[in-house]
Amino acid sequence: MAAKPRVAVTRLIPEAGLDLLRTRCDVQVWEGDLPPSGDALHTLLEGADAALTLLTEKIDGALLDRHPTIRVVSNFAVGFDNVDVDAATARGVAVCNTPGVLTAATAEFAFTLLMAASRRVVEAATYVRDGKWQTWGPKLLLGQDIVGATLGIVGFGRIGKELAKMATGFNMTILANDAYQDPTAEAEYGMTYVELDDLLARSDFVSLHVALTPETRHMISTREFGIMKPTAVLINAARGPVVDTDALVTALRNGDIFAAGLDVTDPEPLPVDHPLVTLPNCIVVPHIASATVTTRDAMAELAARNLLAVLDGETPEVIVNPEVLKSGSPA
Ligand code: GLV
Repeated sequence: MAAKPRVAVTRLIPEAGLDLLRTRCDVQVWEGDLPPSGDALHTLLEGADAALTLLTEKIDGALLDRHPTIRVVSNFAVGFDNVDVDAATARGVAVCNTPGVLTAATAEFAFTLLMAASRRVVEAATYVRDGKWQTWGPKLLLGQDIVGATLGIVGFGRIGKELAKMATGFNMTILANDAYQDPTAEAEYGMTYVELDDLLARSDFVSLHVALTPETRHMISTREFGIMKPTAVLINAARGPVVDTDALVTALRNGDIFAAGLDVTDPEPLPVDHPLVTLPNCIVVPHIASATVTTRDAMAELAARNLLAVLDGETPEVIVNPEVLKSGSPA
């Protein structure tokens, strides 16, 4: 009987995914709370046929060269900026991700941050906890209106579109910027495509939903904050480096924008004394937009199914570099 394929999983993911893998594979899981360090990662990947990775693992050509048995890197995330896809493709290694199953959870969390930052929820709860609440105040903790405001969505893919649907219920005017313009989207989502500067100038809320690429790194920096309204709220549930951290600190301190709600930061994690953590007009949470029980189960199952399909020489539900399958199964 042929030996079972060996799968390395770089953190304890939900059982739903591990159970699927264990039906057919010899599964080694890194059980630490923190990501495996360089050496520990190499030990885990030694002799593996497949790796189920997290966004905390940097997968590049050098790592793949050191572990040439790996045929698929299945990322437990929709974003895959942690994987050098060109390097994987050049080595015939399939790269998979988990889009679709986390769309609603991520969009609803972006909306959660939008509401929390504009209505100062965290600041207000801290005010109460600090024993400062003495009376009802006509000017106490005033925020920004959401209903009827203008929402600018940067990156109008699955998650951006889901956010637009949610915003419709709040009677918001929706602007979007995307390099690709879906010809039916304006009619379907009641939104308008605009140039980025136009979106920044007109929006009360700017929510980022682009992938991290060389083009989107620091796409929101000093110049862009200069265009935004002083009452505007910035939401980032995409990737931290899309925003220039130092420029954001300055904008929040100077009142160039009203507030920010950040699911992601650059770096991650942020030191606890970092200005973004301590400024009252900034909410930082630890990259949890997709963190619901059912969504994380679905991500684990999809990542496992993708990985198993590649090992079987089949086309997975989702693959980032399908060209590696064209000549048959990956090398
Ligand atoms: C999380 O950030 C993801 O990309 O799924």
